[in-house]
Amino acid sequence: MMLEHLFSPIAINGMTLNNRAVMPPMGTGYGNADATVGERLIRYLARRARGGTGLIITEVCAVDPRGKGFPTEIGVWSDEFIPGLASLTRAIHGEGGKIALQLHHAGRETFPAAAGGMPEAPSPIPSVVLGQPCQEMSRERIAEMVEAFARAAGRAKQAGFDAVEIHGAHGYLLNQFLSPFSNQRSDEFGGSEENRSRFVLEIVAAVRKAVGPAFPVIIRVSTDEMIRGGYGLGFMQGLAPQLVAAGVDAIHASVGVYSTPGNLSIASLDTEAGFNLFRARAIKEAVSVPVIGVGRINDPRLADRAIAAGDADLISFGRQHLTDPDFVRKARAGRFEEIRWCVACNQGCIERLSFEMKSATCTFNPACGREYRGAPDPVEGVKRLWVIGAGPAGLSAALAAAGRGYEVELFEREPLPGGQLRSASQPPHKQPYLDWVGWALRQMEQYPVKAHFDQAVTVGMLQGKRPDAVVLRDRRPPQKKGYLEWEDWSVRTMEKRWVQVHFDREVTAAMLSELKPDAVILAAGSSPVTPTISGIDGPGVVDARDLLVGKVEPAAPAVVLGAGYVGIETADFLIARGIGVVLVEMLPAPPVGKHTAHGYWLHRRLKAAGAEIILGATVTRVEEDAVVYRQQGEEKRIPVGLVVTAMGARAENALEGALKELAIPYRIVGDAQSPRRLLEAIHEGDRAGREI
Ligand SMILES: Cc1cc2nc3c(=O)[nH]c(=O)nc-3n(C[C@H](O)[C@H](O)[C@H](O)COP(=O)(O)OP(=O)(O)OC[C@H]3O[C@@H](n4cnc5c(N)ncnc54)[C@H](O)[C@@H]3O)c2cc1C
Ligand SMILES: Cc1cc2nc3c(=O)[nH]c(=O)nc-3n(C[C@H](O)[C@H](O)[C@H](O)COP(=O)(O)O)c2cc1C
Ligand code: SF4
Repeated sequence: MMLEHLFSPIAINGMTLNNRAVMPPMGTGYGNADATVGERLIRYLARRARGGTGLIITEVCAVDPRGKGFPTEIGVWSDEFIPGLASLTRAIHGEGGKIALQLHHAGRETFPAAAGGMPEAPSPIPSVVLGQPCQEMSRERIAEMVEAFARAAGRAKQAGFDAVEIHGAHGYLLNQFLSPFSNQRSDEFGGSEENRSRFVLEIVAAVRKAVGPAFPVIIRVSTDEMIRGGYGLGFMQGLAPQLVAAGVDAIHASVGVYSTPGNLSIASLDTEAGFNLFRARAIKEAVSVPVIGVGRINDPRLADRAIAAGDADLISFGRQHLTDPDFVRKARAGRFEEIRWCVACNQGCIERLSFEMKSATCTFNPACGREYRGAPDPVEGVKRLWVIGAGPAGLSAALAAAGRGYEVELFEREPLPGGQLRSASQPPHKQPYLDWVGWALRQMEQYPVKAHFDQAVTVGMLQGKRPDAVVLRDRRPPQKKGYLEWEDWSVRTMEKRWVQVHFDREVTAAMLSELKPDAVILAAGSSPVTPTISGIDGPGVVDARDLLVGKVEPAAPAVVLGAGYVGIETADFLIARGIGVVLVEMLPAPPVGKHTAHGYWLHRRLKAAGAEIILGATVTRVEEDAVVYRQQGEEKRIPVGLVVTAMGARAENALEGALKELAIPYRIVGDAQSPRRLLEAIHEGDRAGREI
């Protein structure tokens, strides 16, 4: 059997799981305003159960209204929640899945709008990240919360959950009690390790008592807080056997708290896959109950190896479940090329939830969170849709429209698809971004796809002969630095519904007028802009996109104009090639903050390489060997071997006029609407394909 370790059953107390793949808790914002479970959350989780995951653990569920971490957090603090939660467990069981409820209290890591008042914590030390003041819990309140966890667990059992998970990790209330940093009490709940552990051990014992001996109880812990003044792995290795003695049946070995540098609890693409497994192994050495490993594991093959090596008994795949709900089933069948991979960008999920205050989704999976809406209506009759641009927006639009029965022709003026993803995937750690392009093209095969690759030959042939099928040979680009290697670029067949892909073919107003498609999705992206600065069009100046795809060889020293994401990632790219970089930025503060995990690591790599960001600086001219800028009224020069521009982009929407004039129904999506990000491009493309 493929991946025999991952796909072998395992029991946690009385609960037998078909396989060892776990969907860990992930807050979504899909809960109702009154903290009940609604159709959106149910459909989203049921879709993951259908994908074959062994155990699903719900997102945080508050045991007390004051413990809510965000306004739409679901709750279990009264019996009134039981019917809603029961409809969730029925839906998961209907798909053949197993589900645990995560019992949560945020402690100080929340704010009054969510908690309904001043947050509470072991000590009145404000949250480091949120800066939110909090109130010290009295002994009576501690006893109440022990009881709240126990009652919540009883309700979960009544609602049909297969297990509960006590949230003892990530800097929330239980973790706050364990931590010498956030717990500075002088009573029996603070001070020594024994005292700091008391609250958590009392909760475990009370939960065990409430659910009886045969009901599975899991605890999630941060194995190491990874903060100055916090506890380390040794402390958790000592606590783990006590947790088992108090009544837990499995330990979910996460890492980090809110203020851990680089947010290791939800590690970004900058952190190595499986980086946290050694800590799961350390916990496993201390206990004999199953241990769940977690942390940047998206590939089932890595999970299988980790289980085989004895690092963990089960593996949590968090964000991978958002990107592809079917990846477990696909892995079981060995169909890895069909898996849409999470790249750990955090943009569509945790950053959207935490920084944009919107519900979570996935950059690369526009269907995530939309499961309850069902499939779009098929298109009536035979309709020809042109999609202009095979970047993220165009590929996404073509896929969605082909799924509805459109005859889609996808035009790309470049010889390769991907648009800006081709350059965006070149900086360190970002290569996996490009996998999505290959995935999208492979998806088109299901319709099946009619594809024209080498325009000069195939269009003529197809127009003349109208064959029933086309077999394409690999059209590998020259093995040029910066270009992708297309591995699966091979056979496409054609039948009734299709997407026809034209590369090296720019759509013009004349083409639209002559061939008049029934509808158009304009996904022509954006082009870089450079302000008029003397010398900017000189030979030593290159645009970031061209540099990244290898059109120009890097040279030292480099000056990057603009320190937004494109600029700073281009600097990272140059640094990785041993080239010294200075960034010049007009704004007074760096546009890329350190509050996101990726931003943190980017700044850290820049600092380690000695790269400087000159802020509040306006470039006045570019000379042959220097960039001249003005800062606080003073003119300054930096010597330079290569100038790279990363100063923004302009929407490519010139064809809109022709579309209007020809009265062709159209949508403009992605950067062509206004230059933004992958999430907008992929989601808008998908929406246009579903709605046009
Ligand atoms: C270096 C770099 C790093 C980036 N990193 C990130 C990141 O980490 N996260 C993120 O969210 N975003 C990132 N972005 C931005 C992101 O790549 C874009 O927002 C996204 O690619 C926009 O997708 P799109 O399909 O709308 O446009 P594009 O990607 O620009 O694709 C448009 C396509 O249309 C084609 N085209 C244009 N006109 C015609 C025509 N008339 N006929 C036929 N074809 C045509 C173009 O050749 C192009 O292939 C990055 C951008 C760059 C440059
Ligand atoms: C959007 C989002 C929300 C999360 N919410 C929770 C949560 O409610 N409870 C929890 O214990 N962990 C939460 N996590 C952490 C995940 O359970 C998981 O530990 C983390 O994403 C690392 O796993 P991964 O690298 O496989 O994604 C969340 C993660 C994400 C991305
Ligand atoms: S948004 Fe990014 S990190 Fe989040 S699930 Fe999707 S690919 Fe993964």
